Amino acid sequence: MTKAKVLCILNHRGGVGKTTTTINLGGTLQQKGYKVLLIDLDGQTNLTESMGLSAELPQTIYGAMKGEYPLPIYQHKDGMSVVPSCLDLSAVEMHIPVYTRSPIPVIPVHSVCTLLYLWQS
Ligand SMILES: Nc1ncnc2c1ncn2[C@@H]1O[C@H](COP(=O)(O)OP(=O)(O)O)[C@@H](O)[C@H]1O
Ligand SMILES: [Mg+2]
Repeated sequence: MTKAKVLCILNHRGGVGKTTTTINLGGTLQQKGYKVLLIDLDGQTNLTESMGLSAELPQTIYGAMKGEYPLPIYQHKDGMSVVPSCLDLSAVEMHIPVYTRSPIPVIPVHSVCTLLYLWQS
């Protein structure tokens, strides 16, 4: 199995460049030959919408964290994959102990980060 690298772009403060950094770093790494999965863990859904996805998709990171379905991965036309967020994610902290079936580690730092999973093509 290929090992993936995980980069977490994280800051509790808004407007400091998390979303911008995630998209541009992901795009650059993809051009260098990595496969890139962007995971939006911010309830403001800026990364989701910036990648052309609706913030009201039926399957998002929120439902996956609750174990309702596998991680929903959408394909962006430019090649990166995206796991979308939703506004409900802001309620995630209330349920963190319940999310034992989450497909990714639950990060107890408020829902304000974005993740890049990278693996070699
Ligand atoms: N490196 C940068 N230099 C200048 N402006 C930037 C930079 N990174 C982001 N910005 C701008 O800062 C604002 C907030 O960025 P954003 O990525 O939305 O922050 P966050 O995701 O942390 O809320 C946006 O208007 C964005 O265009
Ligand atoms: Mg953002």
